[in-house]
Amino acid sequence: MLNIYKQSFFGFLWLFVVLLEVSSAEEDANGVISKDRASLLSFMAGIVSHSERALDKWNASGIHVCEWSGIQCHNVSRAVVKLDLSGRSLRGTISPALSGMSSLAVLDLSRNFFEGQIPPEIGSVVGLKLLSLAWNLLEGEIPSELGSLRQLIYIDLGSNRLSDNIPSELFCNWSNSIQYIDLSNNTLTGKLPLRDECKLKELKYLLLWSNRLTGQVPPALGNSSKLKWLDLESNFLTGELPLDILRKMPYLQFLYLSYNGFTSHDGNTNLEPFFDALANFSHLQELELGANNLGGVIPLNIGDLPKNLSQLHLAENHIYGTIPTQISNLTSLTLLNLSSNLLNGTIPIELCQMERLERVYLSNNSLSGELPSALGDLPHLGLLDLSRNQLSGSIPDSFANLSQLRRLFLYKNNLSGTIPPSLGKCVNLEILDLSHNQISGLLPGEVAGLRSLKLYLNLSSNHLQGAIPLELSKMDMVLAIDLSLNNLSGKIPSQLGSCIALEHLNLSSNILEGPLPSSIGQLPYLKSLDVSSNHLAGALPLSLQASPTLRQFNVSFNNFSGNVSSKGGFSTLTLESFLGNPELCGSIKDMRPCPRKKRHGHVLILSILLSLVAMPLFCIFGYPALTLKTRIKRQLSIFHEDNNSGDEEQGRKGFKSKRYYYLPKISHRQLLEATGGFRQSSLIGSGRFGQVYKGVLQDETRIAVKVLDPRLADISESFKRECQVLRRTRHRNLMRIITICSKPDFKALVLPLMPNGSLENHLYSPTGGPTSGPLHLTQLVSILSDVAEGVAYLHHHSPVRVVHCDLKPSNILLDEDLTALVTDFGISRLVKNSDDQSNNVYNSAYDSVSCSSTDGLLCGSVGYIAPEYGMGKRASPEGDVFSFGVLVLEIITGIRPTNVPFSGGSSLHEWVKSHYPYNLDPIIEEALARHRCPGIQSEPLNELWREIVVELIELGLMCTQYNPSTRPNMSDVALEMGRLKQYLSSPSEVMILEASTTKS
Ligand SMILES: *[C@@H]1O[C@H](CO)[C@@H](O)[C@H](O)[C@H]1NC(C)=O
Repeated sequence: MLNIYKQSFFGFLWLFVVLLEVSSAEEDANGVISKDRASLLSFMAGIVSHSERALDKWNASGIHVCEWSGIQCHNVSRAVVKLDLSGRSLRGTISPALSGMSSLAVLDLSRNFFEGQIPPEIGSVVGLKLLSLAWNLLEGEIPSELGSLRQLIYIDLGSNRLSDNIPSELFCNWSNSIQYIDLSNNTLTGKLPLRDECKLKELKYLLLWSNRLTGQVPPALGNSSKLKWLDLESNFLTGELPLDILRKMPYLQFLYLSYNGFTSHDGNTNLEPFFDALANFSHLQELELGANNLGGVIPLNIGDLPKNLSQLHLAENHIYGTIPTQISNLTSLTLLNLSSNLLNGTIPIELCQMERLERVYLSNNSLSGELPSALGDLPHLGLLDLSRNQLSGSIPDSFANLSQLRRLFLYKNNLSGTIPPSLGKCVNLEILDLSHNQISGLLPGEVAGLRSLKLYLNLSSNHLQGAIPLELSKMDMVLAIDLSLNNLSGKIPSQLGSCIALEHLNLSSNILEGPLPSSIGQLPYLKSLDVSSNHLAGALPLSLQASPTLRQFNVSFNNFSGNVSSKGGFSTLTLESFLGNPELCGSIKDMRPCPRKKRHGHVLILSILLSLVAMPLFCIFGYPALTLKTRIKRQLSIFHEDNNSGDEEQGRKGFKSKRYYYLPKISHRQLLEATGGFRQSSLIGSGRFGQVYKGVLQDETRIAVKVLDPRLADISESFKRECQVLRRTRHRNLMRIITICSKPDFKALVLPLMPNGSLENHLYSPTGGPTSGPLHLTQLVSILSDVAEGVAYLHHHSPVRVVHCDLKPSNILLDEDLTALVTDFGISRLVKNSDDQSNNVYNSAYDSVSCSSTDGLLCGSVGYIAPEYGMGKRASPEGDVFSFGVLVLEIITGIRPTNVPFSGGSSLHEWVKSHYPYNLDPIIEEALARHRCPGIQSEPLNELWREIVVELIELGLMCTQYNPSTRPNMSDVALEMGRLKQYLSSPSEVMILEASTTKS
């Protein structure tokens, strides 16, 4: 079939024909003009719709036909010689009135939506040289009247719905002029109607692919000795390969005969004569013979095929025997496809001398022996498919040299040995499939860390052992990972939650133990998860049930325990998914129900209540500011408009479909029950847009319910859609919306309850907090790293780019192990724009949002807001970076940026900057005193911590630079914070540092 390169070649040809035509039409055409005009108006009447300006100036008063869009007239006679309305979204039928344009030489109506039949009247436009009706919806027979177009040079009727036999008048009558015939991609039937006496002597291009033509290639085609392109692919043609015909076409460049029923010579046993016939075709570039019935061996004279040959397809035939070494003579070959034949023997090492090879398919044969190490010498190799053979031995180290390799398929062989770590040097690899072999040993971190893997990693059905390497979490683009049926042991790393593009994960049939990390359920696109037949234990993470994308799920034959409710994503699952876990119980159909609860649950609830009372500020949600005018709201780039349109579109389309927009259902009634009727004692916070209540659902899920003030919550359906957009923005460091509850007069967001409250709480009322004592430095660095990761995801990786706009300690919540989750991003999308200014009524002092009366509204809270916002700049990622910088400095200094006790009204970052770099000591000492890690006291550690504090101050100052463009971006910040966190959390490094300092 045609590739792009050839398509553009058509363009050239077409242009050439057009130029030729317009200059040679010299007919005197008095009176013709008004006839042309009448024909065009009739034609126009047949068009029911079109794209904007497609028929510009048509029938406008006082404008000559020759000025109408798409029309070209003869210089002298002013008769219409060309009508080109290609690709203008015209809909309707082609009017027979076109035949009235007697001087027309070029008619191009391709790439529109014309329906109905081709009007036979076109056959009377006898001067027509170029006719293109391709890419429309035309149906029925090709009218035999077109055979009257004896001057036709170029005809393209491809990609329509034309049917029936090709009328024999066509080819025969055109015989002296036609150079280009394209009838491809229709449903034409019957034989190629080329009678012996018909000689298409000028024909250079014949494209008939994708039809239903039958019979043999007619011998008369041999008269077309100028043929360059012959594409008969995908028909039902039969007979021996037509070598007597082809022999007469020495100019052939592209010969496509794939997907037919051709056979080889001597009773389908001999390919040699055919290859012989092509040997002298010095122009031949591509030879496609795939998917026929060809039998025989690959003849030795394959090496005599033309030197220019760049593509050779012989796949899906019945070719047997070995691959002859002579093949290496084809030094220009970039693509070799011999897959799905009956080839045996070894892969000839000579193959590796074909230096230009880019794609090699030898799969589904019976090749044996080892992988030639010399394959690594193919500098351009991008795809290597040797799957489904009987290859043995190990994967050669030399594959590391394949720097262009994108796809490597070695599955279903007998490969043994280990995966060479050097494979990790193939930094362009997108697919790696080594499944169904006997490969053993560890999965090397170098290979697991191949960030380039975009599509899938399949190592299933081997003998791999050891732990799943943490490096696997670097595959943040990979769609599917299959490590099933190996001997992998240890825990499933929770870091797999970083593979955010992952849709399919199969870890089944290994010996993995420990819990199933909740981060897996939070993977935003996860569709199928199979961890069956391992030794996993513990409760199933709630995140799985809450996942809106998960469709297939199997945890069978493990030791999971606890209660499984059939709610949320589990509502469609059956017992099948949970078999062989004796300790699981719950409401899944046919599952053992859980025993009734005993009342001593009290203690737990009481302790939760206590901890909640102790953090009065928890869940006080500070909102990005309200917009005052819709217009301004739109400009406010909470969501970058330009990146957003695709998702909006998807949103619109998907909105009706439950599957796409699935949310676990929670009724108003359930929320009432969970919060004790929204009673005062459940109230844990209140912000500008409503109240936050804590609650416990029947299945014991602890939730925070954010009830939006009905006067502010958007009444329209867009509320749900916005929630969905936010829900798709998922990351382990971003607060997730479990679901929403939306009735006309009640809108609420249901969020997980964070047991450790907000960072605000820990910073400013540490003694009363649920954790004992203030946070120490290691914890704070980890929290800052989490926050940076979350915001970096919002800025750079989420499906819809989000600017947080209001980053501050009260918007950072901490879960049970003090992982930080950023909350309240993008929430202003959920709140209706109010025309009146009454919103300010809800402006609590706490949320102190800055509004500028001139530019409408700005987002952010006083103290954290970037200075450029005051100058009328709109919310931006740089603004978030600024707020993050303030946050870092706040944590170090312990000073709230909102009530800065500094003289001259300077801000926190200005104050810190005034101490930099020589007067930092008091700040450092103070920070260390406040956040010192308990227990350990040693000089070297102190030194280390001082260093960290200095680095944090520097980062804070960098982020709070006045010029937004000189601030680092959030990815850089996250990287830097990650480095600091790593530095602090790896005790070995601390030890080394300690040791080295003591020695010196
Ligand atoms: C064949 O034509 C159909 C429309 O009839 C089009 O959608 C399809 O893309 C065409 N196929 C190719 C390979 O161009």
